Amino acid sequence: MEQDKRFVEILQRLVDKSVDGYYNPYREFTWPDSLPDDRMWMSEDLTSTYGTEVEAELSPAERCRLSRWESINFYSMNVEGIRELIIEVMRRIHSRGFEVPSDFFHHFIGEENEHMWFFAEFCLRYGGKIYSGPKLNSIGHKDPRVENFLVFSKILLFEEIVDYYNMRMAADDTLHETIRKVNRVHHEDESRHIAFGRELVGLLYSQLAVDASAEQRRDIEEYLKRYIVFSLRSFYNPQVYRDAGINDPLGFRERLLADPARRDAERKSVRKPMAFMLKAGIFADDLLPTA
Ligand SMILES: [Fe+2]
Ligand SMILES: [Fe+2]
Repeated sequence: MEQDKRFVEILQRLVDKSVDGYYNPYREFTWPDSLPDDRMWMSEDLTSTYGTEVEAELSPAERCRLSRWESINFYSMNVEGIRELIIEVMRRIHSRGFEVPSDFFHHFIGEENEHMWFFAEFCLRYGGKIYSGPKLNSIGHKDPRVENFLVFSKILLFEEIVDYYNMRMAADDTLHETIRKVNRVHHEDESRHIAFGRELVGLLYSQLAVDASAEQRRDIEEYLKRYIVFSLRSFYNPQVYRDAGINDPLGFRERLLADPARRDAERKSVRKPMAFMLKAGIFADDLLPTA
C-alpha cells in the first residue's frame, strides 16, 4: 500500500536522525546551583496570567516569583505526561500490529526516558519538588483500533502543546541559558516525535474511518477535544499559585479562567495541532468545549 511505503520511509529517516543526533543527556547540561530569582523563568507571554486583568495587579517581583513556579509546573507536566506515554508505547512495542514502528519505538522510549530525567532534574534542583496534577482515566476502549488511535492522538496532542512552549522559550533571550537549553534540546528531539505522531495518527485514523459510524467519529472528536481542554487547564495549577505566595489560589485560578484574554492565548498554543486534526479529517470544526 502506498501509504505504508511512505510510513516505512519516514520511519527510517527519523531513526537515522535519532542515531546521528545521539547525545548523552547526563553530560549535555550544566546545572548552576541556582537560577536568578530576579528574572523570569518562563516567557512572559506563556505564563497563565498573561494578558489578564489579574496580571496588571502583580508587581514585577510577583510576576518573577510566579513564573518560577509556573515553569516548575510545566516541567512537572512533562514528567507526568512522559511517564504515561512511555507506559502506553511500552505496552505496544513488538506486539501485533506494531511490527513496523517498533524500531522507532526503541528510540522514542529511550529519548523520552532521558527527557523525563532532565525535566525531573530541573524541578528537583530548582523547585525542590515535582507537582502532581489531576489524571485522566485510561482509555480502555473495547475496540483496540479505537484505543490505539486515541492513545497516539493524545501523545501527539501533548507533544504539540509542549512544543509550542519549548520553541518559544528556546528562542527567548530574556531567559537564563539553562532554561533555554532544556527547551531547545527537547524541541529538537520532539520534532521527530511529532513528525512520527502525525504520520501514525493519520494512518490509524484512515484504517478506522473506513467503517466508523458518524456517531463514533463524533465521540472520537469530542473525546480528543476534551483532552485538549484538560491539558490547557493543567497550566492553571492552584498549587503553583499557593507556592508563589498568592492569597486565595483557587479564586485566583477562577479569575484567570474567566478572563477572555486567556482564550486567545490558549488558541495560539493549540493552533498547529488543531490545524492538523482538521486537515486529517479527525475534527469537523475547530470549536473547543468551554468546560
Ligand atoms: Fe519528550
Ligand atoms: Fe516526545
